[in-house]
Amino acid sequence: MPSRSPGGDGLPRTIRGSSIGNTTVAERDGRLRATAGGHKTLPYTICVFLFRLMVGRMDMGDLLELLGIETPIVQAPMAGTATPKLAIAVSNAGALGSIGIGTSPVDQARAAIREIRSGTDRPFHVNLFCDPPANENPVRDEAWLEFLAPQFHAFGAVPPESLVDTSQSFLGNDVMLAMILEERPPVVSFHFGLPEAEVLAALKNAGIILIGCATNLEDARVIEAAGLDAVIAQGIEAGGHRGLFDLDRPDEKLGTFALTRLLARELTIPVISAGGVMDGAGIAACLALGAQAAQLGTAFIGCPESAASDDYRRALLGPDGASTTHTAAISGRPARGMVNHFMRETARPDAPEIPDYPLAYHAYKSLSAAALAAGNHDYGTRWAGQGAMLSRSMPAAELVETLKSEMSAARTRIPN
Ligand SMILES: Cc1cc2nc3c(=O)[nH]c(=O)nc-3n(C[C@H](O)[C@H](O)[C@H](O)COP(=O)(O)O)c2cc1C
Repeated sequence: MPSRSPGGDGLPRTIRGSSIGNTTVAERDGRLRATAGGHKTLPYTICVFLFRLMVGRMDMGDLLELLGIETPIVQAPMAGTATPKLAIAVSNAGALGSIGIGTSPVDQARAAIREIRSGTDRPFHVNLFCDPPANENPVRDEAWLEFLAPQFHAFGAVPPESLVDTSQSFLGNDVMLAMILEERPPVVSFHFGLPEAEVLAALKNAGIILIGCATNLEDARVIEAAGLDAVIAQGIEAGGHRGLFDLDRPDEKLGTFALTRLLARELTIPVISAGGVMDGAGIAACLALGAQAAQLGTAFIGCPESAASDDYRRALLGPDGASTTHTAAISGRPARGMVNHFMRETARPDAPEIPDYPLAYHAYKSLSAAALAAGNHDYGTRWAGQGAMLSRSMPAAELVETLKSEMSAARTRIPN
């Protein structure tokens, strides 16, 4: 099994496991970490120390070692789509399984973490949203509901009287923090910004590995300066919500390729590429660009363990996957998905200003529920990245194995 470490040029260098001594220890290392579930034991620490002495590597920047995983694959945390079952299957296959609890109430989030723990003793990853409070603007919200009213009426429904803020933001969320500190998932990541410095310190003190998501260099620098362990480079190709910190700042819309290279060059913390990566060749490309792992979301939606509806799966595996675009009209924040009727209607030039996240979500969820009740399936959320057309449907463990062998095959295609 190869293990990775940064080379002198900042790019990852692969240390092949052909030297028997190193490989044995590396494999033991992975298992020990996995068994400990992120909590290091004394024998584990001694073993890692001896291993590092043997191979002459004392650097602490190796992401796979840090995360305790065997292969540089992170299954993206996808709120509403990634399930504990998916995370269990992925983690048991040697990658990092994840869940998104950014929209979950605390009890539901705790239950999901416990379910993962009951199915694997390997590391896994939990993602939280750090959305700032929505601005109240009743005039704007009323205009939005008025604009959507004819669509509600078409399904024999009426719009809600006002928009409700259903945010489960981690910002200032002491109850969620207490739950996370009690449950201590091995890895936690943040979307839409970062929590307060004292919250980061409390999570770090609890031994939790912390990851931030950046769509540009400025946000990535904030993540590094805040002392997080790694950064996700989320390119414009990515499915789901963009992790933008500041919605008022102009969005450079950098692709995964350019952003990965930029962050690998400018930062000292490990980079995880995300966006449009659908197979082992894509992962190998990210590693060649300087990332230490890739985070794949859309690629895992077709797995039977995901919570995707039949409509969603059909769309992903059919011609709809060819057309993904960004919309802020569904939730109030820009996100990429396969085009549905709602996205087409709200892209009209006469559409009014979109309410803030997550107020817009309330209107959208009410309307899509009314549409579904009336038998219309063209209102469902179908987040997906630009690689949607490359989607496959297979059990998650099989997908991880396939990605691994594709990665090896891709490496051999690169001439010396
Ligand atoms: C259905 C779906 C839901 C997502 N939900 C989340 C989430 O809850 N938290 C998060 O940090 N990222 C979320 N993302 C974004 C992913 O973390 C990742 O950036 C993205 O999936 C990478 O692009 P890809 O889909 O092309 O692989 C989601 C993506 C998708 C497709």
